[in-house]
Amino acid sequence: MTSDEQREWASRRLLEVPRLELSHAPTPIEELPRLRVALGGGPRILIKRDDYLGPGFGGNKVRKLEYLLAEAKRAGAEVVITCGGVKSNHARVTAALCARVGLECALVLNPAAIGYQGTEPASLHIDRLFGAKIHLIGSRLEREPMMESLAAHYRQQGKRVAVIPLGASVPAGALGLVRAAGEVAQQLAQRQLKVDLLYHCSSSGGTQAGLVAGQQIFPGLCRKVVGVSPDGTAAEIAETVSSIASGVGELLGIDNGEMRESIHVFDGYVGNGYGIPTPEGEEALRILAQTEGVLLDPVYTAKAMAGLIDQIRRGAIGEDQTVLFWHTGGQMALFYVPEDAA
Ligand SMILES: Cc1ncc(COP(=O)(O)O)c(C=O)c1O
Repeated sequence: MTSDEQREWASRRLLEVPRLELSHAPTPIEELPRLRVALGGGPRILIKRDDYLGPGFGGNKVRKLEYLLAEAKRAGAEVVITCGGVKSNHARVTAALCARVGLECALVLNPAAIGYQGTEPASLHIDRLFGAKIHLIGSRLEREPMMESLAAHYRQQGKRVAVIPLGASVPAGALGLVRAAGEVAQQLAQRQLKVDLLYHCSSSGGTQAGLVAGQQIFPGLCRKVVGVSPDGTAAEIAETVSSIASGVGELLGIDNGEMRESIHVFDGYVGNGYGIPTPEGEEALRILAQTEGVLLDPVYTAKAMAGLIDQIRRGAIGEDQTVLFWHTGGQMALFYVPEDAA
């Protein structure tokens, strides 16, 4: 574990990094007693409501973008370019926050795994409402080249450009989750709670990187962080998390070796692939909605909750343990609008 001195240095350094205040943090931590009953017992379950973060229908991306847009503003950027799928929460939140801070926003979006004839994802409709310029592409492989050619196009027009990679999952973006780790450690201390396991959905890696780095600085966060994949293999995600976390380590002076040891990823809940619902995820979505009035999303959080429910049902998490499920948002993926909606 990182020493007290290193922790103090890192938390002071974190406060010095420029950040725009664009969210409604601290978000609440709630208890899910009726879910516990529905599962027939098992650990105490808490939920961190980052789906309440705010702009653009919230979610974990707001925390990352508070840092990346501060960086873009300081560099004098006029246009922000980023990418994702047509239901991308990251893209939508970027569009909302760019509108809020007065930046142009261009989104490079690939098709979703599923859709319904005559409709388009509500997220895409809302991207346009926020004034983002949409560039639809044929596949994920075209994201990088399209962002590069758009950046060149804007620069030719004499504009300064900030390109934000997929999911804002770079070390500076992950700082948002390091900060969130401190927020949670403080909330838990105030309520005299100790969390054994923290479960969350892990995809482009920035959230988990920020949380495992945060765990080094704020050990009161939890004993173990567990990422559940909606997409890649555990090895792929762990490698990405490790590389982003080591970037965070360099920014904040945290021991990288310790962080590598604390990266745990499950990939048994992906089903047939990214964005394709699984029966277990659909069950998790329904149970949460009907026992607690909490809505998950079909792409990310329902698969992560399906993982947690499965581990509880298998008896892998004891009755004496406390689990914190981190709700990272994304519910907009439940909605579609008519294709010709104004
Ligand atoms: C709702 C939601 N949850 C979880 C994630 C995963 O976060 P990360 O990409 O930082 O691993 C994402 C983004 O991909 C998301 O939109």
